[in-house]
Amino acid sequence: MVVILGLEGTAWNLGAALVTEDRVIHEVESSYKPLHGGIHPREAAQHHASELKRVVSQLIEGAREREPGLSIGDIDGVAFSQGPGMGPCLRTVATAARALALTLKVPLIGVNHCIAHIEIGRWRCGTEDPVVLYVSGANSQVLTYHTGRYRILGETLDIGIGNALDKFARYIGLEHPGGPKVEELASRGTRFIHLPYVVKGMDFSFSGLTTAAKDALAGNPLEDVCYSFQETAFAMLTEVTERAMAYCGKEEMLLAGGVGANRRLQQMLRTMCTDRDARFFVPESKYLRDNGAMIAYLGMLQFRSGQTLRIEDSAVMPNFRPDEVEVKWR
Ligand code: ATP
Ligand code: FE2
Repeated sequence: MVVILGLEGTAWNLGAALVTEDRVIHEVESSYKPLHGGIHPREAAQHHASELKRVVSQLIEGAREREPGLSIGDIDGVAFSQGPGMGPCLRTVATAARALALTLKVPLIGVNHCIAHIEIGRWRCGTEDPVVLYVSGANSQVLTYHTGRYRILGETLDIGIGNALDKFARYIGLEHPGGPKVEELASRGTRFIHLPYVVKGMDFSFSGLTTAAKDALAGNPLEDVCYSFQETAFAMLTEVTERAMAYCGKEEMLLAGGVGANRRLQQMLRTMCTDRDARFFVPESKYLRDNGAMIAYLGMLQFRSGQTLRIEDSAVMPNFRPDEVEVKWR
């Protein structure tokens, strides 16, 4: 049995988990909530720094209660998000991971946060070789595995869909995160307002759409604008995901990332998959948003394939792209 401790803290959520081959042994999280406006990287990093000791202690204690035979000496490696993410947050969590690995005298494992979202989804849903739509705050990408790497088939040309929804929500005076609140308002919209639908080749863009949605608030009910924003943005994502599936000839699709919790987005993708006799997979929502278990799980896959790090090579990578990683575990 391999046991890996994973630490996630690329943005607003600090998460820690202990994972073994067939289960999540225990997980603890602590979220930073901005007092006003969006996420301030340095404030989020301070939150993580002040919460790390408590979160890791609770993880170890909780794991011992659940599995009395387990001891700290059973931990085989410490995994952390090496990127992408906010520099100050990444550095804080990486420092803790290095200290833990040195103290426990076990290997340090640096993982790509985007690939962790994908691998936990494959694990929880049992999908073998899907086209993945990864949609979160900072990231929006369509990916699939091909010859040793996750290839990015399409991605946002500017901001992530989550940030677009959060920016729009902030503009109308809603608190962070705005995505779920826009979803709730959109469910009460009835009239579709035309907004910019921007797909270029396999890429898409959300900043023009966000500006146009703000402008549309003059003269249209808020619910209709939220509804039209979602319909437009999610149709763009569904179109590109479908084209990727057709191009690759793949018959499974996996949804990943925090925006994946959106019911309307899930519905559009499910319809698209049904129409082309493909299977649609989405994990439970705690494994869609940022979580420690996904870092521990990918850490375990990398540990087993020998992809560990020396401390001197463990600098964080705020712009770490998933296609930079050589996938040796598949
Ligand atoms: P990453 O580092 O991968 O970009 P992240 O820090 O943005 O991750 P996630 O938890 O993956 O974190 O995603 C958070 C985003 O998901 C926020 O932008 C939030 O508004 C959005 N979101 C959450 N629930 C919903 C929902 N029901 N509908 C739309 N958006 C949602
Ligand atoms: Fe994420």
